[in-house]
This record gives sequence, structure tokens and C-alpha cells, in this order.
Amino acid sequence: MKLLRRSTLVLAAAAALASPLAMAQANGKLKVGFMLPYTGTYAALGNAIEQGFRLYIDEQGGKLAGREIEYFKVDDESSPPKATDNVNKLIKRDQVDVLIGTVHSGVAMAMAKAAQSSNTLLIVPNGGANAITGPMCAPNIFRSSFSNWQPAYAMGEAAAKKKHKTAVTITWKYAAGNESVEGFREAFEKGGGKVIKDLTVPFPNVEFQALLTEIAALKPDMVYTFFAGGGAVKFVKDYAAAGLKDSIPLYGAGFLTDGTLKAQGDTADGLLTALHYADSLGTKRDNAFRLSYAKTYKQQPDVYAVQGYDAAQMLAIGLQAVKGDVSKKAEFAAALEKATVDSPRGSFTLSKAHNPVQDFYLRQVTQGENKVVGIASKALKDPARGCKM
Ligand code: PHB
Repeated sequence: MKLLRRSTLVLAAAAALASPLAMAQANGKLKVGFMLPYTGTYAALGNAIEQGFRLYIDEQGGKLAGREIEYFKVDDESSPPKATDNVNKLIKRDQVDVLIGTVHSGVAMAMAKAAQSSNTLLIVPNGGANAITGPMCAPNIFRSSFSNWQPAYAMGEAAAKKKHKTAVTITWKYAAGNESVEGFREAFEKGGGKVIKDLTVPFPNVEFQALLTEIAALKPDMVYTFFAGGGAVKFVKDYAAAGLKDSIPLYGAGFLTDGTLKAQGDTADGLLTALHYADSLGTKRDNAFRLSYAKTYKQQPDVYAVQGYDAAQMLAIGLQAVKGDVSKKAEFAAALEKATVDSPRGSFTLSKAHNPVQDFYLRQVTQGENKVVGIASKALKDPARGCKM
């Protein structure tokens, strides 16, 4: 009895000693590290992600789970060779509590590796590299966006349903382009189509002329493409200027026309793409988000803004569960694994590998907007090949 009382006392004393420390951490600022492209072909995407993220935090009064948010920023330039040094600026120098990044698949994979070895929380607000929620999946890594397989597979199914028989693919030669083409091929060929040629240019080149001439000579039923940001603007314009727009239908993962329509003008009219967001969802949740974003930034949001906003929502859900204590990684993950995220895109859940299970809309460019014309794939779940979690 005495022994028991004494050990209880010792425990209580230890808790009293530990709690001021724990409280200091819980009440101190939460350090968020943005690693995003602020220059180069993906600069607009990085900015939209940051704006979306900040919007949600501002809507919560600048705090999550009682902790004020302090931001740190690194421009990753969409450069894989610089990625490890860049992410270590945030992990080692700034000692951030959570990493938010990035856009480029190759850079995002380097971030995932560094996050895993340092056990830092990482929420990927774009980079679709299949490996991040595949062989590299980890309890502290989450994605608010998509896997490269997802929109491509949805578009492949839709293209096969249209009875196209032959396709040529054209993309940047790096993980995102390669995986997008593979996802398209998997669904298109399962549906009875055949990819007759894969064309690539190195990232971030935009010299398309020779390849467009080749497409004209090959005369496929359709073309499938993955390009995004500045490169997508140039590709859509060049495709129209080459006289291909009216003869060979162009389909893409929806990044082709997201955040790019103003610059593409009428060269994008009529393009059909698949993506987990569109400009005309018309739901209460999306209307409120769009209004708030437009008021704050004097700009219309796009898929990247939504992914940034939802990365902040996911952080909020995890932090709430651990009362602001990011060291409780298992509880943080458990909360997200059972959550439904109330996204402007429509609510979604996370797969075991921590990738969104979500609807893919079929969108058509009409009057400068990506209008929903159907659902390409409902509650589409990445196969998470190679994830052992
Ligand atoms: C990627 O590299 O994973 C990537 C980049 C831009 C996009 C989509 C995916 O719009």
C-alpha cells in the first residue's frame, strides 16, 4: 500500500515536471515550412497552394489547436538536384513542425525521403509521384492532392468509352509525365484502345514543333497529354496553331487547363479533361470557398488552391486530435485515417496509404471555365502498389 502510494507520488511529480515543458510546446508557435516552386514553369501553382493554405488558417483566426502558425518558405525551383538541400533548410535549420510541399513529383519524392528519415510530418499538396503513397508510404506522410495514376486512369476510361481506338501520348519526360501516361494506357487499353506512340520532351522544355508534326503524320484517333502550368499554356496554344485542334481530339489530365485558361484564351475551348476539381461544382461548400478566395486574392481559385486549402484542413484535423502536440504521430495519423475532409472539391477520405479517395470529374472548357460535364470515375482509389502500411 505504502509502496503504491509512493510510486503514485513519484509519477505525479514527474508529470508536474513534464507538463510545463509539454505546455510550452503546445502553446508555442507551430512552425509550418512551405517548400514550393515560386519561380519557373510551376510558379503560379506554388503560389496558389500557399494562398489556399493561408486562407484556411486565416479562417480559423490564424491558429490551429490553440497554436499560432509561423511560416517558413523555400523556393524549390522544381529542381530535383537541389531538393535534398532545400528540404533540409526547413528540417534542420528552421526546425519546422510540418512540411508542406511540393508541386514537382521528383522534388516531392526527395521531400518524402527526408521526412521519413527525420520523422517530420509531411503533407503533399500536389506532387503526384505514385511512390509517395506506394513504396514510400509512411505513417507521417499524407497527400491532399492525387496520385499521378488517378486522373490519368479516369481519363483513359472516358476516352475508351468514346470508342477511340488509337492514341498518341505526349508529355514531359519525368515521373509525373511517365506515370500519367502509364495510368492512361492501363485504362485505355483495358477498354479496347491502343497507344500507338509515346512522345516526350525533357522537363521543362516547351519546344513542341517537331512532335506536333509527328502527331499530324501518325493521325491517331486522339492525343492524351500531361502538361501543367506555363508548359500547358504553351502546349495548348501550339496544338491549335499547328492546326490539330479540329482534326485530332486532345484529352488530358485536367492540369492541362487548370489555372491556365486566361492565358490559353480560345485555344482551349472545348478541351475535355479529367480532374478532382472543376470551376462549376455549384455546391454550397465550393461556392463559399470560391467567394472567400476571390475576395482575399482578387483571383479565381484553381485545383492547386483547393489542394493547399485542404492540406491546411488535414493539418487541422490531425492537430486537433493531438491537442497541438505534433510528437504524437500515431494519434495524428489515426485521426486522419478516419476523417472525412470537407473539401471544396467534394468531401473525401484518405486511403490506408494516405492518398485521397475521390471523384474525378469530366470537364469541358466552356467560356473560360472548366465546366463539369460528367463523372469520369467515382470514389477512385489509387492502387497503392508497393505500400506496406
Ligand atoms: C507533378 O510533378 O507531380 C505534377 C506537377 C504539376 C501538376 C501535376 C503533377 O499539375
